[in-house]
Amino acid sequence: SHKIILDTDPGIDDAMAIFFAFQRPEIEVLGLTTVYGNVPVEMAAKNAITLCDLAGKDIPVCKGVARPWVGPESTYAHFVHGDDGFGNINFPPAKGQLDPRSSAQFIVDMARKYPGEITIVAIGPLGNLALALRLEPELPKLIKAVSIMGGAAFVRGNVTPVAEANIWNDAYAAEIVFDADWELNMFGLDVTNSCPFTPDFLTTLKDINPKLGGFVHDAAQFYVEFYSQNRDDDVCFFHDAMPIAHLIDPSLFELQTGHARVSTDPLNIGQTSIALPNTTASPDWLDAQQINVATKVNNQRLTQLYLDTYSS
Ligand code: BDR
Ligand code: CA
Repeated sequence: SHKIILDTDPGIDDAMAIFFAFQRPEIEVLGLTTVYGNVPVEMAAKNAITLCDLAGKDIPVCKGVARPWVGPESTYAHFVHGDDGFGNINFPPAKGQLDPRSSAQFIVDMARKYPGEITIVAIGPLGNLALALRLEPELPKLIKAVSIMGGAAFVRGNVTPVAEANIWNDAYAAEIVFDADWELNMFGLDVTNSCPFTPDFLTTLKDINPKLGGFVHDAAQFYVEFYSQNRDDDVCFFHDAMPIAHLIDPSLFELQTGHARVSTDPLNIGQTSIALPNTTASPDWLDAQQINVATKVNNQRLTQLYLDTYSS
């Protein structure tokens, strides 16, 4: 089984990823560490507590960084996820307690407790991971792997022509995380934008699991509405569920290994560029850490896996 820490900014697709992980017997979620991103960090932490409560999971929830590593406080994605982060459904917040530790401290503590066993699944901006690397420089040796939803290697961005939201939101932190010497698996827009779900899928989810599926169905109406404004169909994207799906069934994906860089140059800030083998001879690029980038996903099998998980 996989021990994971889910680093998250819930967020509708974050909720979908969290419930996905919670319902899998082969995944043990040690805790939720929260970060600003879709919503301010206070709201992210409260939302994470609410999701745990709804799913009946008694695990630590920590509050993490409130703003980017460098630069002014971020703007949030309320236009995608609603004022409450859950599509304005006015879901009653749970009253659970926050773990007193910061998200970064929790990551370090767990890594020391279970050396070599933990996969960090990061589905928001990467400030908590960058801070954890500063708190414990040996962290890469203590962690099994890091899997992120973020970036756009060979496709366009979703905030700027080149940058994806999670990386764009904290590009300096992302650079630290990409430069660290650990196994990094990137599930960016390359795969997440090619795996949509439809309103019908949400209805099925509610039918087979009224509690968790019902929550996702209701919260995601706003999310579908946002995505459909820019498209001529009604589809919407799993985004954050991708790294979880990969843990459950790696055969759903194709990954390619290459040297990776995150741009902090103002115009291209947050761009993730990958030099695949034999595509560059520039020493600057060959010095960059190697990461694994997901370049293909099997949509049908992933969608089925997601539904099967809610019906079991
Ligand atoms: C990412 O940005 C957020 O809006 C989503 O939760 C996801 O993590 C997609 O670019
Ligand atoms: Ca997210």
